[in-house]
Amino acid sequence: MSNRWKPDLKWSDVTPKPLWLNRRQIMTGAAALAAAPLAGPARAQLAAAPSQYSTDEAPNSLEDITAYNNFYEFGTGKEDPSRYADGLTIDPWSVVIDGLVDKPGTYDFADLVKDQPLEERIYRFRCVEAWSMIVPWVGFELAGLLNRVGVQPGAKFVAFETLVRPDEMPGQKSPFIEWPYREGLRLDEAMHPLTIMATGLYDAPIPRQNGAPIRLIVPWKYGFKSIKSIVRISLVDTMPPTTWNMLQPSEYGFYANVNPTVDHPRWSQASERRVGSGLFGGRQDTLMFNGYEAEVASLYAGQDLSVDY
Ligand code: MTE
Repeated sequence: MSNRWKPDLKWSDVTPKPLWLNRRQIMTGAAALAAAPLAGPARAQLAAAPSQYSTDEAPNSLEDITAYNNFYEFGTGKEDPSRYADGLTIDPWSVVIDGLVDKPGTYDFADLVKDQPLEERIYRFRCVEAWSMIVPWVGFELAGLLNRVGVQPGAKFVAFETLVRPDEMPGQKSPFIEWPYREGLRLDEAMHPLTIMATGLYDAPIPRQNGAPIRLIVPWKYGFKSIKSIVRISLVDTMPPTTWNMLQPSEYGFYANVNPTVDHPRWSQASERRVGSGLFGGRQDTLMFNGYEAEVASLYAGQDLSVDY
């Protein structure tokens, strides 16, 4: 069962650390440095601890992860983000945290991540377009940040927004999305230990095309929930509007849990193509909740997931 996530299996159980370091050096090397020079908010994340939450599957290459992207602020083509994201200013960067919190404010990136324990999380990533990757993120649990700012009792959802800066994000000159890109989670989903804020990829700061300097990762949901380049986090009491649901509510619900038994109206979600596995290989069955069923199914007890899709 090598493609199942094993919650009781530690990274150190599968790969001795020296080997892990060597492999990492081989896989990233110069490419990682070129993709993400160490500057500014970048001061990320080179000493992240491995995590018990990681899958034991082999990660995709840095090239797969940074050259085949969805980031509509830079265009709708898969290569547009890697082509056009270079011009995005990520230093300075700040995030507004507001709504039902004890300590609302505008947090500088460095202050936001200060004291949050960084871990490497090797996660399955399943896009709603039925492709997938294995990605070694570096980040910290969103719960840690929310606890630090103090969630008030009335808060039921967390809303996220991406930067709006059409001068640097050419895709924003097209109004087909009502910018900013928006996403949301129910509070219990946001507080789940699998939900992280990523600031790094492999051993370097997260590249711009992947959502620098900080993005959300919710591994049991379709990739579109994992909003990039976040500038606002709001604690709210009603279900917030989300970009894909606003665009096409019959195709994209609020929950967007990976679910092989609920097809997209225009295609099956039962299987997926693993990016980087070649033309003829790599098609595999999609797992319920993207393989994280044991951890998250209880969040949805009593819900009809064909209605709450
Ligand atoms: N976040 C923003 N701000 N804009 C986007 O267009 N695309 C989403 C998500 N986050 C998107 C976004 C979609 S559809 C996917 S599949 C993932 O980002 C892709 O993440 P990746 O490029 O790092 O693989």
